Amino acid sequence: MELQQFQKHILQGIPSILPEVKIYEEKINHAPKRKAILNADEKKLAIQNALRYFEPKLHTVLATEFLNELDTYGRIYMYRFRPDYKIYARPILDYPHQSIQAAAIMHMLSNNLDYAVAQHPHELITYGGNGSVFQNWAQYLLTMQYLAIMTDEQTLVLYSGHAMGLFPSHKDAPRVVVTNGMMIPNYSKPDDWEKFNALGVTQYGQMTAGSFMYIGPQGIIHGTCITVMNAARKVQHVNGNSENGLLFVTCGLGGMSGAQPKAAKIAGLVSVTAEINPKAVKTRHTQGWVDEVFENLDLLIPRIKTAQANKEAVSIAYQGNVVDLWERLVKENMKVDIGSDQSSLHNPWAGGYYPVGLSLQESNEMMAANPDKFKVHVQETLVKHINAVNTLHANGMYFFDYGNAFLLEVGRAGGDVYKNEKALYGGHVGATFKYNSYVQDILGPICFDYGFGPFRWVCTSANENDLRKTDEIALSVLEEIYKTAPDEIKQQLNDNIIWIRDAMKNNLVVGSQARILYADSEGRVKIAEAINKAIANKEISAPIVLGRDHHDVSGTDSPYRETSNIYDGSKFTADMAVQNFVGDSFRGATWISLHNGGGVGWGEVINGGFGLVLDGSADADRRLKSMLFWDVNNGIARRAWARNKEANFAIKREMERTPNLKVTLANLVDEDILKNLF
Ligand SMILES: NC(=O)c1ccc[n+]([C@@H]2O[C@H](COP(=O)([O-])OP(=O)(O)OC[C@H]3O[C@@H](n4cnc5c(N)ncnc54)[C@H](O)[C@@H]3O)[C@@H](O)[C@H]2O)c1
Repeated sequence: MELQQFQKHILQGIPSILPEVKIYEEKINHAPKRKAILNADEKKLAIQNALRYFEPKLHTVLATEFLNELDTYGRIYMYRFRPDYKIYARPILDYPHQSIQAAAIMHMLSNNLDYAVAQHPHELITYGGNGSVFQNWAQYLLTMQYLAIMTDEQTLVLYSGHAMGLFPSHKDAPRVVVTNGMMIPNYSKPDDWEKFNALGVTQYGQMTAGSFMYIGPQGIIHGTCITVMNAARKVQHVNGNSENGLLFVTCGLGGMSGAQPKAAKIAGLVSVTAEINPKAVKTRHTQGWVDEVFENLDLLIPRIKTAQANKEAVSIAYQGNVVDLWERLVKENMKVDIGSDQSSLHNPWAGGYYPVGLSLQESNEMMAANPDKFKVHVQETLVKHINAVNTLHANGMYFFDYGNAFLLEVGRAGGDVYKNEKALYGGHVGATFKYNSYVQDILGPICFDYGFGPFRWVCTSANENDLRKTDEIALSVLEEIYKTAPDEIKQQLNDNIIWIRDAMKNNLVVGSQARILYADSEGRVKIAEAINKAIANKEISAPIVLGRDHHDVSGTDSPYRETSNIYDGSKFTADMAVQNFVGDSFRGATWISLHNGGGVGWGEVINGGFGLVLDGSADADRRLKSMLFWDVNNGIARRAWARNKEANFAIKREMERTPNLKVTLANLVDEDILKNLF
């Protein structure tokens, strides 16, 4: 389609003449049918809600069509309105715009719906099975139209994908404020999501999908590399160097989990990743992230043994159910060094976790037709799953929860997973699982508490040369910081120096020209400043969007993940994430987002993020300094108040560097005083 045609479509918004009906393309990876949860009156309401977007003359046709979608798929996606043009991160000036900031947001949003990037593009889902950019295509069309016509004196307000409208604001205000899935707390259980999402009034935005900050698998490869590499260091530290190659066994080759084999290979491990969905296996195999695929356990086991003996860095996929794999490893009495799981257990009843003994298709049918029976199958499988993991753990395997609510759901299923007595609903302050999460053991103390987190940027020119230039800038900034860095953070800096040096070589871009690395407050501000200067000097050809995953130091309150290494009881509060969202908004973010749910599930986490457009201006320089500083140090201050040693070190260091920063520090109590009290 011609550029002009594309621009005309964007400016048109929701058409008043019906486009052709779209055929349901089987070759596309579609969201599973959602369970039927609405009664007749509620269905009527869902259709009434959906028709709000359209002129009355279209209602008769669309009412029947939407009811059919609701009955067939469990949701109204408005498939007919999916645009005919290709959605991808186009060069920024291709988007019709009055505000360059809004055009940058269109660039980011489009990337999240690109077929090469999104998991279920026709259902507007980017990753994690239910991480939506919008609930339906009308919301997409309306939002793109608003972004195209808005100015720098307006702010677009998005309620769970619904564009409430453009409101007058000012040039320093965010251009877009996004909220996703924000519920009254008592209505935030998984079935509430099913119901209110089916009604079309809320959505699950995951972390970066509903905030337009997903940059394809690269973001997750980096975090996964850091995690797997440090897990291996941990095992080597305890056990010494093994004669055999270290074996890492896990599950999932989906949106994020698919990064595991690639990361494990970079870390030099033998990895086996189970995946039940052949489409997901094929994607990762074709991409080269998985080296070898086995469907037969009899053939897989000897292959693993050879790889271990030869210390091969090789990534193997087992196409089948992970519990079959674990049980076989137990039976064979295999030595597994590192174990984890990245099925989508934040979404256990709607396709996130597949029970053993059922085919993929049988499961997909049962979860919609007989959800109660499906739930029983899932829970029985979880119990078997943990039993096998426990046996291998007893034989020396290091196991960590990968932030997918695995331990939580195993506990709820009645599995043997608690260290102490079983706590109420698996979520009590006193509950202690047998295994730690990757944040408790690795990312928390090594990264987040020092302020290191997933800082990213996107070149809106869509030009690889700009990306190369930003890589060079980031590398020289980090090398400079390294020269005077304290020992406590040298390892993190060094890991990221190697990462950014090799980034181009590792061919990590899928979709937009994006880069990620882990940096602390100092690193993020200095890299951003240098990039802004390079834009001003025309060394970089177009604006750069800065952002991060919500999976970070300050952005997320999630008691079983990002804040699982907070031990003062406050991990069940969400003040930090909300403060962060608000604080970013008045310090210069170009868009901000606050979400209920993401990673570990609806009702289990509050998280927020931002996007900040650098255009080489003095305004951008002012905003980046103010906002990025807060965006990291808010979380460090909270972590220090929770008595985390590393955060205490980091915040004191920051106060020395920044006289204007005054943080309340925690006094530590002598253990004997407490002991003598009871
Ligand atoms: N990668 C990370 O760094 C990271 C960090 C934190 C949390 N997570 C969590 O990891 C989970 C996975 O994310 P995703 O985007 O990959 O989700 P996804 O749904 O795209 O992928 C999960 C995959 O697991 C497969 N699967 C489910 N049950 C299985 C079973 N019993 N046997 C074999 N395969 C099975 C599914 O077919 C699917 O392909 C999420 O809960 C996410 O929040 C990931």
